[in-house]
Amino acid sequence: MPPIYARALKRAAWPLLALSCLASGNAGAQGAYPNHPISLVVPFAAGGPTDVVARSLGASMSKTLGQSIIIENRTGAGGTLASQHVARAAPDGYTFLIHHNGMATAPALYRKLSFNPLTDFAYVGQVADVPMTLLGRKDLPADGMKDFIKYAKENGNKINLANAGLGAVSQLCGMLLQESLGVQFTTVPYAGTAPAMTALLGGQVDVLCDQTTQTIPQIKADRVKLYGVTTLERIKTLPDAPTLQENGLKGFEVKVWHGVYAPKGTPPEAVAKFNEALRAALKDPAFTQKMAELGAEIVPESKQTPQGLQTWLQSEVDKWGGIIRKAGVYAD
Ligand code: MLT
Repeated sequence: MPPIYARALKRAAWPLLALSCLASGNAGAQGAYPNHPISLVVPFAAGGPTDVVARSLGASMSKTLGQSIIIENRTGAGGTLASQHVARAAPDGYTFLIHHNGMATAPALYRKLSFNPLTDFAYVGQVADVPMTLLGRKDLPADGMKDFIKYAKENGNKINLANAGLGAVSQLCGMLLQESLGVQFTTVPYAGTAPAMTALLGGQVDVLCDQTTQTIPQIKADRVKLYGVTTLERIKTLPDAPTLQENGLKGFEVKVWHGVYAPKGTPPEAVAKFNEALRAALKDPAFTQKMAELGAEIVPESKQTPQGLQTWLQSEVDKWGGIIRKAGVYAD
């Protein structure tokens, strides 16, 4: 091609290229996405169950993305501060959030929520489902769930129940437990269940309902008393642990699910690329074996998609909204 035509073609192409970069945000403007580390925001303390899933997932996803995923723990207000941070972050494909059921319970629990889980995010996909366990401190004078129920009814608010704040699944589980037993404990909130577990191990609190992704190592090391699991059926990783339902709490079920989100307006190519890396991680033995050891179950492929997460979130917002409003639990 004569040089004069080549130069003319280049001049004509630049505005088109610039336009397409603008349309797709920084992801396009700075070359192939991703070209620098990505931040994955975790709404609870480092070392806790959400953090354990996030770090392991991030390590696996970064193999597909060719960039590091930096875990950023932003704690507070039961996970809502982290969600708010991500909802307001630049939609450039470099900030994502991993959150659990708390994303769906927040609208009913927080009357002045500054973001809307159903309209302020782009959805990447779901990750894994995790059962919870009801634990007591090692020297709590109650052995087994039947004994614990008796002890709980006799001691009521003398019992300290740790959780990770309003909107945490530990709070949700504790709320359902108190309601099922017809007792009121004294609640002690922490920035995540990692510090709550430290308090349980140190004997500063009596009871904690927490995810197997954090509790299995403590249960196996016999550092806590295990009263039961919160699923309707027993789980493979703790086959001897009874369900709470087996011990008279009929229908008691709390299962934790995890979704990955981006700020609304994130370029669809970045969301698609992040989803591709997510789906690869959910097949990566380094991730799946670790999750299996910790009692977590990888979600089916239909839930690993943006649509799968969005549909699920909507159904959870509807489900928990009704339960929470009926229970009259909320923060102003
Ligand atoms: C955590 O990661 O600390 C927990 O997921 C908090 C909770 O929801 O109980």
